[in-house]
Amino acid sequence: MSQKKIVVIAGDGIGPEVTHCAQEVLKLIGTQYGHQFQFDHALMGHAAIEATGDPLPSETLEKCSQTDAILLGAVGHPMYDNNPGAKVRPEQGLLKLRKSLELFANIRPIKLFDDLLDSSSLKPEILQGVDILFFRELTSGIYFGAPRERSSNGEEAIDTLRYTKDEVRRIAHKAFKAAMTRRKMVCSVDKANVLESSRLWRETVNEVAETYPEVTLSHMFVDNASMQLIRDPRQFDVVLTGNMFGDILTDEASQIAGSMGMLASASTGTKTSVYEPIHGSAPDIAGKGIANPLAAILSVALMLDLSFGLEAEARQIEQAIDEVLRKGYRTADIAEEGLPEAKLLNTLQMSEQVQQVLKAQMALNS
Ligand code: IPM
Ligand code: MG
Repeated sequence: MSQKKIVVIAGDGIGPEVTHCAQEVLKLIGTQYGHQFQFDHALMGHAAIEATGDPLPSETLEKCSQTDAILLGAVGHPMYDNNPGAKVRPEQGLLKLRKSLELFANIRPIKLFDDLLDSSSLKPEILQGVDILFFRELTSGIYFGAPRERSSNGEEAIDTLRYTKDEVRRIAHKAFKAAMTRRKMVCSVDKANVLESSRLWRETVNEVAETYPEVTLSHMFVDNASMQLIRDPRQFDVVLTGNMFGDILTDEASQIAGSMGMLASASTGTKTSVYEPIHGSAPDIAGKGIANPLAAILSVALMLDLSFGLEAEARQIEQAIDEVLRKGYRTADIAEEGLPEAKLLNTLQMSEQVQQVLKAQMALNS
């Protein structure tokens, strides 16, 4: 039996809707396997700005530093997107959380459930069997480099892309270690034909690779990688890349899995990890109850596996989702044309289906 504390940051938009479902699934797993999951809630993003003026209140950071894992919904609100002058923004909360908890490795698995082969806009024959694990550096690079400023006359702006060898080394080790448990291939993505920071990245990854002689390392320029990803995604096993390249490539890769609504991620470092769907706050559908909760539910499966060492429980959740999809149930984002109305589910109904299958599986096993 495990006893774990989990801080839930529901955040903005569809965040509260999908984290609610993920919590319900965790509670069910807890009951059935005899684990105790204790939930606490904290504010971040637009919700936190509204309540306190601060996108990451110190109370949230305090709670996060004393918990076993964090479940995050999403942050973001359209009122800031077209307002470049906004001094506080929801995303600042997320970036500060990543930095404060030293979550330098963002892990994003790209896998396609068999029954969703036709939900992707890509051809099924190039997708079958895709299994990619992204390692995106998360606390450095152009997201955090200084200087970052606007000139006094407002006519010029600067961001800085900076990496140290230590920063590259620590994420590279994580990627190589993961590759050892998989197909033993790492593809490091950079822009070393242009950027000095990428040349340092490549040199360092080559040095780290010497520790893992069984792993085949390749390097790819980011422009080529973005093309190869949809041309022949099966060529990739572990992909290792920097902060901004990883941000962009994983959104692209989400289309391989049929929808952003299907992808989970883990942000890990040396302390507590954060688990979150890779989709955003989706303000266009927020409050309608139609968001796909599966990415959030898959995020708690990742949490069970990576933070709590409960691999069987994690696999159980994945199998339940697989079965629900096999039965033909879909949320709007993954619905094929001509889907019978009875199979089109809203957020709560989808979560309910997953829970029903879990209950049935567990009744069989006991
Ligand atoms: C992500 C998001 C964030 C990022 C935003 C919300 C700051 O796009 O987690 O991929 O760019 O890292
Ligand atoms: Mg992103």
